[in-house]
Amino acid sequence: MGGSAAHGELVALGAVKGLILSGGKGTRLRPITHTGAKQLVPIANKPVLFYGLEALVEAGIEEVGIVVGDTAEEIRKAVGDGSRFGATVEYIPQDQPLGLAHAVKISRSFLGDSPFVMYLGDNFITGGISAVVEQFIEEGPEVLILLKQMPDPQRFGVAELEGGRVIRLEEKPVHPRSDLVLVGVYCFQPSIFEAVEAIAPSARGELEITDAIQWQIDRGRQVTPHVVAGRWIDTGKMDDLLECNRVVLDLLPETRLGTASDDSRLLGKVILQEGSEIINSTVRGPVIVGANTRVVNSFVGPFTALYHDVLVESSEIEHSIVLEHTVIRGASKIEDSLIGRDVVIEKSDTRPRAHKMMLGDHSRVSLA
Ligand code: DAU
Repeated sequence: MGGSAAHGELVALGAVKGLILSGGKGTRLRPITHTGAKQLVPIANKPVLFYGLEALVEAGIEEVGIVVGDTAEEIRKAVGDGSRFGATVEYIPQDQPLGLAHAVKISRSFLGDSPFVMYLGDNFITGGISAVVEQFIEEGPEVLILLKQMPDPQRFGVAELEGGRVIRLEEKPVHPRSDLVLVGVYCFQPSIFEAVEAIAPSARGELEITDAIQWQIDRGRQVTPHVVAGRWIDTGKMDDLLECNRVVLDLLPETRLGTASDDSRLLGKVILQEGSEIINSTVRGPVIVGANTRVVNSFVGPFTALYHDVLVESSEIEHSIVLEHTVIRGASKIEDSLIGRDVVIEKSDTRPRAHKMMLGDHSRVSLA
């Protein structure tokens, strides 16, 4: 089945809905997520959640529910009614992050009797999910889960397979039985509601989707595995976020909507978004420079994403993500960093020469 035929068929079926989970607490990305949703942290200057929403639409799914928690307003503002993405979006408030299966439970009236794809809002996959949705529709299993081999399976849900069938799932096991972990994209028939009603909260106090799927396995229902061929990144931790930024910057086409002065050097792939300015600086790609961001007398090195309205002056920075409205002035070298919104980093010439800081709770600073 070709891509466009599949799309047409899905649209004609009109049945499969999307459910994006964008509630929860972003504890591992603090302090960035004290003030913002982790699903809106930009990867190559686009919120991670947008990649998921685009993947659903590309697979022919246009009716999407987004489960939101404390950061609901921010998510609503960013996504709107979904029309910009070719989708209709409905918001489903979750009072507390009581687990992925709880999120399914409270989405019942939105989902009705439709099969659906659940997409965790902080997950990133290259290559989209069209092939997955096609397989789900063609084979019609009760559940289709996505799996990926990982070197550190204990951080995730882990699957055990036998003869191409899933026989056991365990959430963050201390002693994983395999290195195949659950990617945050799941396809469900409405029978999942029976399972989420039947299970009890786990030791961490959450209704686990892993337990709900295991409940189905225990009743002999077909749970089909689909091993992801492309890259998958759970962007919940800073290192993974920087890695994801690196992967996406490598894939993006070069566009130059900003300007560079004659005394600047742009080497390799440098994406300049609208109104950005490079002045007397060297930018070595892959790099993305956001709208109205200025780079002055500086070096910006590979795998850096400067979001919109940032100023980098007389500084060196590489392999980093900088969020909006931040100023970096006179910094000799910043590397492997995630820098939040409205931050000011500047060199001071006052004596005594010392590091002076005002850092929020849970900040991390490494001094050379
Ligand atoms: O990323 C893949 C992993 O995601 C799987 O391997 C695990 O089996 C699965 O349980 C899940 O684990 P995490 O502990 O990483 O999930 P997290 O709490 O980070 O939540 C994932 C997304 O769902 C995130 O965008 C927040 C949202 N969420 C989470 C909870 C617990 C909600 O919207 N509501 C919730 O109640």
